[in-house]
Amino acid sequence: MEKNIRTIGVLTSGGDAPGMNAAIRAVVRTGAYYGVKVVGVRRGYNGLINGELEPLDARSVSGIIQRGGTMLQTARCLEFKEKAGVRKGVNIAKVFGLDGLVVIGGDGSFRGAKDLCAEGLPTIAMPGTIDNDISCSEYTVGYDTCLNTVMEAVDKLRDTAQSHERCSVIEVMGRAAGYIALESGIACGADVVLIPEKEWSFDDDVLRPILESKQRGKRHSIVVVAEGIGGAMEMAKEIEEKTGIESRATILGHVQRGGSPTVRDRVVASEMGSMAVELLLQGKQNRIVCMRDNKIVDVDIEEGLNMTKEIPPHMIELAKKLAI
Ligand code: ADP
Ligand code: F6P
Repeated sequence: MEKNIRTIGVLTSGGDAPGMNAAIRAVVRTGAYYGVKVVGVRRGYNGLINGELEPLDARSVSGIIQRGGTMLQTARCLEFKEKAGVRKGVNIAKVFGLDGLVVIGGDGSFRGAKDLCAEGLPTIAMPGTIDNDISCSEYTVGYDTCLNTVMEAVDKLRDTAQSHERCSVIEVMGRAAGYIALESGIACGADVVLIPEKEWSFDDDVLRPILESKQRGKRHSIVVVAEGIGGAMEMAKEIEEKTGIESRATILGHVQRGGSPTVRDRVVASEMGSMAVELLLQGKQNRIVCMRDNKIVDVDIEEGLNMTKEIPPHMIELAKKLAI
């Protein structure tokens, strides 16, 4: 393995996701395995600009694989969207002797990683976000844990909805992406799933299925709404007014971002974090580590950002079919 890289940095950026710690651990331990120093950058690109860097060794990442959140903290850094901010970051990296950087985050963070490469800091990115909304990757670290959190919550809401013969409207995260809503909806047997990628109307996609399932003998219903659709409270009110079925709304919120990562998130984070370091050691940069055809591979950042990923239409159909 080629090795002119002696010190690398690692940071987490954007919304946190369960499994980010497992990814940090994999970066640090893979570095240690190959005799490379690893430096942790706190608070995403903010910390890079402000020089919040500290050395991490194999023992500094003990006992974090099972913890949600990120031990390095994360941030959204507006200054980094400007060239001057990126240059500041590259200068700080030079001061701390970084020969490369691993960025764990979503597509905004990947744009920052691309800019860092353009300014001379070899950077590799990997997907850490609960939204599963990275076009070049079938999977993003944090998604499975989030889905399990949602599933547990909806199962509990179903218990009480069933007892009171109510309609439960549940808003889950995902401003622009409906993956969480759709897959949790299928897993929890939702009667209605609304996602930002698919047009919908209250009468056809909410009211009708609820009334039809009532006629078929269902005595409670579950409506899962993505954050990008919003308005869960108002929707519950309107359902109650138009159907006479007592309705309640729950916005799950940030509980979906926390918790101990599942096996899938720990393993995928470990594979991706480790591969990111190996790519840097091979002299590669400007790559996204991602999952394609169920394998961990890497693609050019620009190419990856330009790819498109579609919610599988058959999954939308499946959710509808099974709500009969
Ligand atoms: P995510 O990485 O989860 O998509 P954001 O979109 O908030 O989250 O991006 C995280 C950070 O990445 C931003 O706060 C900013 O510092 C950086 N970033 C986002 N967009 C860009 C961009 N177009 N160019 C450079 N850096 C960016
Ligand atoms: O990108 C992850 C995510 O949790 C989205 O699903 C959600 O829309 C957003 O972050 C919430 O961001 P914040 O932490 O700023 O409330």
